Amino acid sequence: MSARIAIVTTVDLEVPDADEQLLLPHLPEAELVAWDDPAVDWSAYDVAILRSTWNYTERLEEFRTWAGKASAVTRLVNPLETLVWNTDKRYLDDLAERGIPVVPTLFVAPGDEVVADAVAGSVVVKPSVGAGSAGAGLFHDDPAAALAHVASLHSDGRIAMVQPYLSQVDTHGETALIYLGGRFSHAARKAAILSRGMSWSTGLYADEKITPCKPTDAERTLADRVVATLPAGLAYARVDLLPTDDGPVLLELELTEPSLFLGMDPEAPARAAAVFRALLD
Ligand SMILES: Nc1ncnc2c1ncn2[C@@H]1O[C@H](COP(=O)(O)OP(=O)(O)O)[C@@H](O)[C@H]1O
Ligand SMILES: [Mg+2]
Repeated sequence: MSARIAIVTTVDLEVPDADEQLLLPHLPEAELVAWDDPAVDWSAYDVAILRSTWNYTERLEEFRTWAGKASAVTRLVNPLETLVWNTDKRYLDDLAERGIPVVPTLFVAPGDEVVADAVAGSVVVKPSVGAGSAGAGLFHDDPAAALAHVASLHSDGRIAMVQPYLSQVDTHGETALIYLGGRFSHAARKAAILSRGMSWSTGLYADEKITPCKPTDAERTLADRVVATLPAGLAYARVDLLPTDDGPVLLELELTEPSLFLGMDPEAPARAAAVFRALLD
């Protein structure tokens, strides 16, 4: 049988993606195809599902152009409009407007002034387009260094995000709730990254420590609320939450190419395959 589903990766993935290794045996209709391989005929696939396209953050315009072209000739998943909205974390402002508690975030575009107060205390500075903790820095009582990082993101043409460091991540971790076909599937806990000294300066994606977990009722309720604001039945969504004294808040909503942590639940690979296969109907 010829492949009808493209599982979309990149040409330069150095390590095989764990999710794809778990998924592909359940999905014989699929094959791995790179978004940045110019030889691919996307019209040959009924569905193209973005998975390990992580290098898009460095090549956003090229990626969005590719996504526009691919979506004209095949069914792109998630849909183009959702991807375009989700590849820039300024979507957090939209979700806050929809009543979702999000990590308080100041977006600073090149040319915008940042008052020193905004970077006082313990703050995170990171790019508005990013993944895998690339470009994220933690600064404790060091406004000059935080401002210098804002400036360095600007010199790369990026919009900077400034957030308070939500330190309960150090004890509780970050909770990722994964939805498949619009329904809650499973969850995972990710240990704190920045306080372990992981940062862009290592030149590597941060080493993520992931374990299975059962979300608290408050986490599940919030993640369900986030998903309810989205188009119904998205093939995949990941809602990343951080704990605070006032309950969980949204750190990130991943609709583009999230790791789905399929290894955290023995049923998850088959569940994901069934949702992806149903896209062919
Ligand atoms: N405001 C914050 N408070 C605490 N930890 C944070 C904060 N922002 C980011 N982090 C840490 O940095 C990591 C990467 O940041 P995140 O916003 O998830 O960006 P990415 O898109 O790179 O995953 C998170 O997994 C978390 O450990
Ligand atoms: Mg993240």
